[in-house]
Amino acid sequence: MQSVTVKTHANISLIKYWGKRDEVLFLPTKSSLCIALSELTTTTSITQAAGDQDEISINWQVTTEISHKKIIDFLTLFRTLYGIKQFFAITTHNNFPTAAGLASSSSGFAALALALNAFSKLNLSEKELSILARQGSGSASRSVCGGFITWHRGENELGTDSYAEQTFDAQHWPEFRVLVIVVRNDAKKVSSREGMRITTSTSPSYQTWLTNSAQRMPLIVEAIRNKNLHEVGELAEADWAEMQQTMLDSQPQLDYWTPTSRDVMQAIKTLRSAGIPCYFTTEAGPNVKLICLENNVQTIIKTLREIDGVLDIIACKVAQAPIVTEK
Ligand code: DP6
Repeated sequence: MQSVTVKTHANISLIKYWGKRDEVLFLPTKSSLCIALSELTTTTSITQAAGDQDEISINWQVTTEISHKKIIDFLTLFRTLYGIKQFFAITTHNNFPTAAGLASSSSGFAALALALNAFSKLNLSEKELSILARQGSGSASRSVCGGFITWHRGENELGTDSYAEQTFDAQHWPEFRVLVIVVRNDAKKVSSREGMRITTSTSPSYQTWLTNSAQRMPLIVEAIRNKNLHEVGELAEADWAEMQQTMLDSQPQLDYWTPTSRDVMQAIKTLRSAGIPCYFTTEAGPNVKLICLENNVQTIIKTLREIDGVLDIIACKVAQAPIVTEK
């Protein structure tokens, strides 16, 4: 039987996506920029379903339609968009905790979009794949690419110009590293989707963040082009701090961070004062991501491992493009 297997990488944004201007089409309120992470992967395989419904197995557990509504909705959307009648058997596995602020939906829906495209022999372009993946999860629009990636906000309300593309490839900055500092493995209480809804409708500082964040986009692209870690780090931390502020001044308040997350962030600032260039960001979750250069990785890991509550540290390079294998 025909089968397709796809391996994608989760991504971590330095200029954040937090808020939609259209919830149905997943159109963001602003552009964002991220890095694909070599060590956080989703592997998704697809074959034809035996019966007349989709079969989904996540992390090797056979699951029900209700608990995996997002995936079923995405498959239904795919069938509608491309006039496809068949049902799919999908097995998907993350090599990292799901829904814990490690961007599992980014690699997950990107893998699904790429797998559906190859399985159905649609030959969609990377731009079309990004637009498709976006409608499963916004951040997934970026994981169809490798390297340093920009997701353009787009201007039209049909979403045809809101897609991601590579800004610099994975080889551009060979010394660049991301450390993923895992402080919790369980799923978060308020999903990103719900959190964004709350923030965009209640945060008094949201508009200010949008304006400032948009101004950071060209600056960070230049800083990455020039391989200027200090500049990249300062811009990423500033964007994170303002995003965090929008969450903290939302009603109800969104506080995704634990005391350990805060200890890790403080330790990163202390390392920096001691002359080791390293900067942090987080998603909507307690795990902290640090950017640095290869030569400082061991020193940083040694220091952060000593913090109470740090469960794991995963050192990543900038990932290559996804891999699609057909049988
Ligand atoms: C905080 O892409 O998970 O990680 O589009 O609703 O599925 P939906 O949200 P999702 O949000 C990710 C938000 C973020 C920041 C980012 O990835 O830029």
